[in-house]
Amino acid sequence: MKIAVLKETAPGEHRVAATPETVKKFAALGAAIAVEAGAGAGANVTDAAFADAGAAVGDRATTLAGADIVLGVQGPDPDGLAGAGAGAWIVAGLNPFGERARIDGYAAAGFEALAMEFMPRITRAQSMDILSSQSNLAGYKAVLDAAAEYGRAFPMMMTAAGTISAAKCFVMGVGVAGLQAIATARRLGAQVSATDVRSATKEQILSLGAKPIFVENVAGIVGEGLGGYATEMSEEYQKAQADLVSSHIARQDIVITTALIPGRAAPRLVSDAQIATMKPGSVIVDLAVESGGNVEGAVAGDVVERHGVKIVGHRNVAGRLAADASALFARNLYNFLSTFWNKEAGRPVLDAEIGDAVRLTQGGAVVNARLLA
Ligand code: NAI
Repeated sequence: MKIAVLKETAPGEHRVAATPETVKKFAALGAAIAVEAGAGAGANVTDAAFADAGAAVGDRATTLAGADIVLGVQGPDPDGLAGAGAGAWIVAGLNPFGERARIDGYAAAGFEALAMEFMPRITRAQSMDILSSQSNLAGYKAVLDAAAEYGRAFPMMMTAAGTISAAKCFVMGVGVAGLQAIATARRLGAQVSATDVRSATKEQILSLGAKPIFVENVAGIVGEGLGGYATEMSEEYQKAQADLVSSHIARQDIVITTALIPGRAAPRLVSDAQIATMKPGSVIVDLAVESGGNVEGAVAGDVVERHGVKIVGHRNVAGRLAADASALFARNLYNFLSTFWNKEAGRPVLDAEIGDAVRLTQGGAVVNARLLA
């Protein structure tokens, strides 16, 4: 059983799919690990550290040669996988809805592609969930990015020269990233409020010491769909939400948006007209910018200014904390493969509940129900 860890090729991707810790653990299972030279450079992991942990460090061709499993943070280009073993598993964040041509490429090449973001939201899979581990870091970093762009302090300060008031921070979308954004903004001393369509989040917002801002009295709202994810809301709800946000947002200094709906464009939560009501110098961070954006005018990979308000649209926000993001991502991959490790076979053998959820391609075809629907 040979596991290959490739150097990421996507621009700006500094994460790596294994760490010396997971290399050692895979070796303890009996696997041989090959790591492409320089794979860890962006995450402060040297080739020597990988070699000391027991990995064979070499060029891409040597790393790939005969590999049974290829690990990645993002999906590698199928054309660049020549030499990997027949039917090899490609295990990474494959962006199945956004990178369909690539998925078809894995099928055509006979690889078995396993998309880590399709991990089901069940208790036993929590330690394998890359969306949670990366979103948590993104929520934290979003607040730091906002603080860095904001020309004022977050906490209230009483000084001999007078008092400065606490920043008002509004978090829209209270999933994993939003919860960490609330906690981080609170730690920095901001006055925090938050909203979501899932009514279950109200308690979580309160427990973090923030103020829930919720649409009330609109019939039939629960907002929770399959697997704890949000569903698309009715027009009536969207209008009520827009009115609520309009009255609240004008008084905010910092807005962090994190709202996503799996398989669809991100919902539009903040309009240009609403931005125009905010004070100059306010900052909005749109964590959904790569999925279409929650904020009108947000530009992926850029910080732009509208009506004196900065709109931050960094890509790959978790990857901006590459060392920690890699450590958690690598553990997610290890937890996944080791949970299913079959000692006799000397390789992982997936069960139906998780295997069918994450498997995109098999036997030359796309097989995943969510992609075929
Ligand atoms: P996500 O990244 O898909 O979405 C972020 C948040 O945006 C969600 O809370 C969603 O309800 C909200 N949202 C969507 N449309 C919105 C709108 N129009 N306005 C305001 N908010 C909107 O969600 P994430 O962070 O992945 O987590 C969702 C839930 O799944 C959480 O309850 C989390 O605890 C749960 N979860 C469970 C796991 C497990 O059991 N293994 C693993 C990860 C998350």
